[in-house]
Amino acid sequence: MDLLIKNATLPDGQTGMDIACGKGVIVAVERGIDAEAKKVIDAAGQLISPPFVDPHFHMDATLSLGNPRMNTSGTLLEGIALWGELKPVQSIDEIVARALRYCDLAVSMGIGAIRSHVDICDDALTGVQALLEVRNQVSHYLDLQLVAFPQDGIFRDPTAMQNLTRALDMGVDVVGGIPHFERTMQDGADSVKTLCEIAADRGLMVDMHCDESDDPLSRHVETLAYETTRLDMQGRVAGSHLTSMHSMDNYYVSKLIPLMVEAELRVIPNPLINIMLQARHDNYPKRRGQTRVPELKAAGLTIGFGSDCVMDPWYSLGKADMLDVAHMGLHVGQLSSRADMMWCFDAVTKNSAKIMGLDGYGLEVGCKANMVLLQAKDPIEAIRLRATRLKVIRAGKVICQTPPTLSALSIDGRPAQVNPADYAPKPE
Ligand code: FE2
Repeated sequence: MDLLIKNATLPDGQTGMDIACGKGVIVAVERGIDAEAKKVIDAAGQLISPPFVDPHFHMDATLSLGNPRMNTSGTLLEGIALWGELKPVQSIDEIVARALRYCDLAVSMGIGAIRSHVDICDDALTGVQALLEVRNQVSHYLDLQLVAFPQDGIFRDPTAMQNLTRALDMGVDVVGGIPHFERTMQDGADSVKTLCEIAADRGLMVDMHCDESDDPLSRHVETLAYETTRLDMQGRVAGSHLTSMHSMDNYYVSKLIPLMVEAELRVIPNPLINIMLQARHDNYPKRRGQTRVPELKAAGLTIGFGSDCVMDPWYSLGKADMLDVAHMGLHVGQLSSRADMMWCFDAVTKNSAKIMGLDGYGLEVGCKANMVLLQAKDPIEAIRLRATRLKVIRAGKVICQTPPTLSALSIDGRPAQVNPADYAPKPE
């Protein structure tokens, strides 16, 4: 046995559980495991979870804040203009360096897998070359999945289609799109059809920025669901953002959601970015702009929350904290019942893993020994505290650790599972 974790609480509420790992996989999950192990971790009743999974990110832009200048207005439009200034002047090496720094941060925050869009509207495919290199370099500690993303529109940008084909030939994993950004509704619908057909031909998944708009008539999700079913791609297609659903007519939504269920469409809201950027044209009352998470969840759709941006032209904040993302999604979606709050934890862990199609994800016997030990007693407390990631485990080895924090007060007013001796000065 390589690793034995003692007395952990699992996300489903089971307490006092031991987890034994060998050869990079989980070999036993039960109480009272009594076996020799090279390393033993006393979880002291704290929550252990499979790693956080970020199903929507832009790694080609991350950590570029201030480069070549700041987004002074903080708006989406200035962000797009800024990205247009940065894209032609950034080198492969610069993107690789920033992305690797972000991956280090993400791993320290317990993230084990990221789906990143990469802009292919650049004839040099600088971002694609950089992130393929990064995917390769981080593969032993982070699963990175890349989406070929035509930021300027697959039809609207004159060379986007050939660049998308080149990117997929180079090994990008997933087909992306941005139908609401094409010139017309018809072009948007045609782009969905064309891109889904490309994915079907190549046996790839699809993940489109879809209807990231407050326009209630932005209905490309309908075409996305239709094409998914027509091409027999159920469960392999995701709609990211889907914010126009917030503003749609209720009667239309009552027809739309069953179509999405039929297509087993995956849904990826990005709570931090959606609440920040949507409804900028509204007076008061202002719409929230997040898609209809409670209704989509009640219909049985798989929903994963994404972080979208960290310190880039669009969003100056963020720290690779998927509990921050869950916290915002919970508030914006008014997901405040105990069951809904527990579900928000799933939305940044197992739901997102399912969307990405990750193999061996979970805490069952036979799963990969990838885990994060949190300074919290259950998933709700983890979200409340944005709990400290005490230990990050990959393939049965501790690859990162953070000391417990005294500010993590539990409900009885005492620091949550903190041993003050941890803070005593250590002899030299
Ligand atoms: Fe995005």
